[in-house]
Amino acid sequence: MTHIGRLYDLLDDVRLPDDAIPYSQVSPWELRFLHLLGRHHLTGEGRIVELGSGGGGSTYALALGLRESPVFDERTGRLHAYDFFRVGKGTFATEKFFTSGSRPEGDDSFLEDFRSRLEPFLPFLEIHAGDLWQTSDPLDTSPVEFLHVDIAKTARVFRCVSERFLTRLRPGSVVLHQDFAGPRLPWLHHSTGALLPYVEIAGPPIRSTLAFEVVRPIPEDVLKRISEDAYTVDEKLALITAVQDRVDRDHTGGIPFKSVLEFAKAYVAHYAGDHRRAWSIAKPLTSDEYLSRTRADHFAQVRKAYEQDREQNGSGSRLGRLVRRAVGR
Ligand SMILES: C[S@@+](CC[C@H](N)C(=O)[O-])C[C@H]1O[C@@H](n2cnc3c(N)ncnc32)[C@H](O)[C@@H]1O
Repeated sequence: MTHIGRLYDLLDDVRLPDDAIPYSQVSPWELRFLHLLGRHHLTGEGRIVELGSGGGGSTYALALGLRESPVFDERTGRLHAYDFFRVGKGTFATEKFFTSGSRPEGDDSFLEDFRSRLEPFLPFLEIHAGDLWQTSDPLDTSPVEFLHVDIAKTARVFRCVSERFLTRLRPGSVVLHQDFAGPRLPWLHHSTGALLPYVEIAGPPIRSTLAFEVVRPIPEDVLKRISEDAYTVDEKLALITAVQDRVDRDHTGGIPFKSVLEFAKAYVAHYAGDHRRAWSIAKPLTSDEYLSRTRADHFAQVRKAYEQDREQNGSGSRLGRLVRRAVGR
């Protein structure tokens, strides 16, 4: 069992102050796990980093755990919180992150709301407000002890996460991927596949969050390939299959990760422009009870791209494409 694997047994007993914790997009289970990590595992000797703090729900749970830790020293240890801390196009932030629950007239920033909700922890909280590409330091190579990733909603942002943070992981570092149940973010899944020889998965995902611990140094060339997105579609699918071999239902039993990861493969093909292959992977998953209930919009997206492709390119079959090419259409 990994060091953090033992925290699973404690999950049921965590009690968090519901009235103090800001609105959070992560589930109560994940908040409890963050709290346990802060309280029982992290030391503050390496950087403790949260990417995508939003209104501070996850930050609060982690910070409270650190405060209750017998080893984390608030005078020297730091919790780094990164976020736009504002709503607007392309931010992936919601108005619910404002304390009032909606955006005040003429103001798009919820930074002050975040600060005031996190006030008890400000002495050891370092806030990095703005686009991650601007607020993270490309020259910082200090080891990262803990990385909570709730920010990598696009491949562009994931590149920043991998270039500037995954490269700073060392044996003993812990990573949480909060969006692991999101098939539209397949970079989380195939990068985890590429890291498998160097990490140990802590246990079943906790709701959407997959946790792993680094157990051996990650070679530079692996990190470079991940950052540069240098895997072919087939390689990515194989990497995701390797993760499927290790992950099944989440801790609460509600999320069937093998199916979720299969759907992520469809998105690998979709983003690569191979809509026929994407739909051929996704179509059989429409009979999956969980996916059909929760991801109807994803099926519609992959199917629509496939149908448009067929309309533009005739039958869409390889043979059809070859025939059209031969007759010069
Ligand atoms: C799902 S929310 C985080 C939820 C939060 N962890 C919670 O407990 O509710 C994702 C956050 O990522 C932030 N984000 C997305 N892309 C970003 C970027 N490029 N730079 C900074 N923040 C970003 C958004 O502002 C948003 O608040």
